[in-house]
Amino acid sequence: MREFELLERDGFARLGRFPTPHGTIETPALLPVLHPDARRQVIPAREIRDRFGLRAAITSSYILWRSPELRARAEAEGLHRLLDFDGPLMTDSGAFQQHAYGSVEAGPEEIIDFQDRIGSDIATVLDIFVEPGASPEVAQRGVEETALRARKARERRSGLLAVPVQGGSFPELRYRSAEIASEVGDLLAVGGVVPLLEQYRFPELAQLLLAARPALAPNRPVHLFGAGHPVCFAFAALFGVDLFDSSSYHKFARRDAVMLPEGTVPLASVREPICDCLACQELPLATLAGRPPEERERQLARHNLAACATELARVRQAIRDGTLWELAERRASGHPALYQGLKAAVRGARWFVPVEPDSRPTFRWCSPLSGLRPSVIRFLARLALWRAGKGPFHQYPRITLTPGSLRGVPCATREGAPIWWEAATPLGPVPLELLEVYPVGCWVGPELYDPELRRVEPDPVEEDPGEDPDSRVALWTLRHLNALFAWGYGASAAARLGELKLVAVRSARTGRLRRLDRDGQTWFVVGNDGIPYPTWAGANELHRILPAPQARVVVAPDAVPFVESGRTLFAGYATSADRGLSPGSAALLVDQADRLLAVGRLRLAPPELGRFRRGVAAEILSHARAPRLVVEEPSPPPWPPGAETEGP
Ligand code: GUN
Ligand code: ZN
Repeated sequence: MREFELLERDGFARLGRFPTPHGTIETPALLPVLHPDARRQVIPAREIRDRFGLRAAITSSYILWRSPELRARAEAEGLHRLLDFDGPLMTDSGAFQQHAYGSVEAGPEEIIDFQDRIGSDIATVLDIFVEPGASPEVAQRGVEETALRARKARERRSGLLAVPVQGGSFPELRYRSAEIASEVGDLLAVGGVVPLLEQYRFPELAQLLLAARPALAPNRPVHLFGAGHPVCFAFAALFGVDLFDSSSYHKFARRDAVMLPEGTVPLASVREPICDCLACQELPLATLAGRPPEERERQLARHNLAACATELARVRQAIRDGTLWELAERRASGHPALYQGLKAAVRGARWFVPVEPDSRPTFRWCSPLSGLRPSVIRFLARLALWRAGKGPFHQYPRITLTPGSLRGVPCATREGAPIWWEAATPLGPVPLELLEVYPVGCWVGPELYDPELRRVEPDPVEEDPGEDPDSRVALWTLRHLNALFAWGYGASAAARLGELKLVAVRSARTGRLRRLDRDGQTWFVVGNDGIPYPTWAGANELHRILPAPQARVVVAPDAVPFVESGRTLFAGYATSADRGLSPGSAALLVDQADRLLAVGRLRLAPPELGRFRRGVAAEILSHARAPRLVVEEPSPPPWPPGAETEGP
């Protein structure tokens, strides 16, 4: 069974593997458009594969079909020989040509059969291209006709099938179209967006990607038709776009337009060696103006393609690092339209939250939109719930500290009464107990470098004269742990965990919480993200305290022996999961009778668990036979200011 496999993720964005008859496509990937007539292909297909490392490509089956000569050759030799490309080849159906030039003579069935005959690895349904400005009636007809054709195509083709998602600017139609595509398609191809891309209408693109998103099957790759400019790769990847295609590298070259990750500039303006891609090392951009037109076009196409390939590599790296929002914000600062598009994305934060990881290694401020990332929205929403009475200390008087004053251990009481201390942070007031928790605990923002805020003031967290200094630390630690557990598992579980009297071990260097020990054993290891991760001992306690299904993933019987001996939990063997878990959460892996097998770190979001049949659902952190959990020493706290900070 050929299926998409998710390897790593950052929200909706994922690194994946999509197997095809001519090899596996590692996503996110750019499929450069190859001209169906190899003689007119600006960069030889073989060079694209071998020199640019682009292993998969796309071409137009319709243009092939329309030319009697090419059609005959494609049918005789097969597509791969015709194009001299032996990697995965996707074919488009001609819908865009039909839209642009008015008519196609090929019928939808004819064009599917043709793609089959010439050996396309991924054939595309002949969809109806619905303009973003189309009326609701026109858009609806387009979606219905596309659906009809998709279902017929599925009956005719057993190979991989790309099903376009249309619907113009109507969110309900985009959703419906995505649902139908997910029923029959192996690859879900969002179409009808070329005018939006060409006119930099990124907010509309964001809206329709978000509208389709909940209906797009998570276990299929998502393609964005016509997206081939490096400025939009990080942005589109945020919405879970896995595949891009475009002939832009050549189209732009034809009009002397230089693609850069930050935007487009005219070739004539480039006088300095601003790029050192493989093409520019050969012939710098600044020297191209003096070259014969054909050579200039070819060389600029090479530069443009290299710019696309490199930006996509950055996107993949950012997904691994958990920094895709940061990359997208940096790119958005390159063009106001893109900035506005990202703003539309953060307005849709509620769609992103279910696939948001619990934490990321860092939180680096990149733009005024940083404070609106889904991770922040989720953090603040939970904090608002605490304020509304769901947290442990809502009944206490609240005192907000200025950032410079966050030193030492605050007193838990004043004049015998408990106090809720909060710190002024870039995210607003945050209880001191949560100050090490992601995202506020990993926050690296401009405030750190503001001399006013860095000023270290005398410790104003005055002692309560009624409080014994020795018990002050103990009291505070108790409260700190109680808050952390309440944050992770709810107030009643926190109260029961409090009975364990865990000993907090702090880093001598940074003062940050590192471990929670008892009886010479570590029960929780506190990550860099400020979250306590249970060891085997801690997990057993959590398992006892938390009622099922809380914090649990149920493992299918076949996989139980593997999971309990520390082998990875694969996607097909996770039968259900607590919806409160997120990708990256530590989960209690249990059998169907709720026996604890291991602690795992989830890779999939709970709603995705039943959808994937390949790949890892959770890696094992600890289990009965290997109870230890090793976590690196946390790095210095970036917040509050005044503490150690990283260099530039
Ligand atoms: N190429 C660019 N846009 C589209 C589209 O909407 N559908 C198809 N099939 N190809 C496209
Ligand atoms: Zn270059």
